[in-house]
Amino acid sequence: MSEEGPRASAANTASPKPTLGFDDWVQERTPLLLSTNAGTPEIAFQDWKRFKEAFAPELVKRAVDETAADLGRTVETCSDPFGGSGTTALACQFLNVAPSTIEVNPFLADLIEAKLSSYPDGILEDAFSQVVGRVDVAERAVSAPFSSAPATFVEAEGKDRFLFWLPVARRLAAYSDVIETLEDVIARRFFRVMLASITVSVSNAFISGKGRRYRRGWQARPVDASAVDTAFHDACLRATYQVRRYGGRPRLDYNIYRGDSRQLVHSLGKHDLSVFSPPYPNSFDYTDVYNIELWTGGYLSSGGANRRLRESTLRSHVQIKRSFSTRPTVSPTLIRTIDQLRQVRSVLWNSAIPEMVDAYFEDMRCVLEGLRAKLSSGGRVYMVVGDSRYAGVDVPVAAVLTEEAADLGFEVLGSEPCRSMRASPQQGGRAELAETLLTFRVD
Ligand SMILES: C[S@@+](CC[C@H](N)C(=O)[O-])C[C@H]1O[C@@H](n2cnc3c(N)ncnc32)[C@H](O)[C@@H]1O
Repeated sequence: MSEEGPRASAANTASPKPTLGFDDWVQERTPLLLSTNAGTPEIAFQDWKRFKEAFAPELVKRAVDETAADLGRTVETCSDPFGGSGTTALACQFLNVAPSTIEVNPFLADLIEAKLSSYPDGILEDAFSQVVGRVDVAERAVSAPFSSAPATFVEAEGKDRFLFWLPVARRLAAYSDVIETLEDVIARRFFRVMLASITVSVSNAFISGKGRRYRRGWQARPVDASAVDTAFHDACLRATYQVRRYGGRPRLDYNIYRGDSRQLVHSLGKHDLSVFSPPYPNSFDYTDVYNIELWTGGYLSSGGANRRLRESTLRSHVQIKRSFSTRPTVSPTLIRTIDQLRQVRSVLWNSAIPEMVDAYFEDMRCVLEGLRAKLSSGGRVYMVVGDSRYAGVDVPVAAVLTEEAADLGFEVLGSEPCRSMRASPQQGGRAELAETLLTFRVD
């Protein structure tokens, strides 16, 4: 649950705002194809942090409309067990549906909650003045910035690779120290998110589809500490404007559950709809990809905490050694796939891949089983999933999950292609991997 419990619109002391609804929100950028993410960064809130795995809010609207038509009444509540950047929950606020979201990554959970929160008039403006007014003094007190972070974090004698030049790291640490002194928990979270979200842009790295890479020629081009001020100020002003502009959206309440959806799905209340996209079993490790934000935002303070976070994520990657034990599956497609993966084990880039894939489906079954118990009669699941490929063996994720869902008692309503992604070289070449929108219903 959120630090201070679910926040409700009743708690908002802000003055009345113009009611801007879902269409106002999504039309303020180029139209895009359903569930591609091509234009997502241009839309309000979704540009706070580029999240390339996000789906389009139109998918949520479609799910709400179709479910309402089937139920013969409005959809009251919707869950997302894999919140990410918060697309489902935010779209629900615009669609007047009560959202409940689960997210294990504390930076992403804060990002979601900062978007969903309502901010009393003046609170962000006052807090921004305090932060900017105190940061210079705070910087004088910074001695060893981010000292508990991995060795490659900050420039130091003898290091030939590091993510932050020392003056940049000192400035970031000074902002962070001041933000943590802010009295109001909502303002503190908002500015923590703003700061963490700009850190990659002032680092020596960039994030590609395959993780973190150093910028070409970064050693010859030190980043100036003033870049931190510029990026932070721009981000805060843009986001504050959006918060104000859309402060009158149809609803402002939400529930956010911070932690592992394999357990927390059982804490959800009864609801009508679940719209989500889980991690794919393709070894993309979200803890690693958001590691810079996690450390600079103060979400991690030791290597042990980093490992514990990875342990709580879905078993969709092999980045750490962990238990991939499973129970026998009911899916004939999965049994066949695991058998094929075992046959090519000697040429896999990690020998634990067959067990990881098996464990991934057990985790997904666990979440689906939990949702099945929490969805009302006529309730639906809309789930975007992606196939994988290892050493030429296809992992047909949509097919396996369809078999598992049917076994759990869901009625399978649809399986439609929705976008495609390139297979990484590790996954056996350049062929396209399918992404599928699966729709299930509870009787
Ligand atoms: C594909 S992203 C979701 C994207 C989201 N639909 C959006 O539009 O932004 C999957 C998310 O699942 C989260 N996740 C991974 N394992 C989890 C777990 N065990 N419990 C809850 N969230 C988890 C990841 O941190 C990541 O944010």
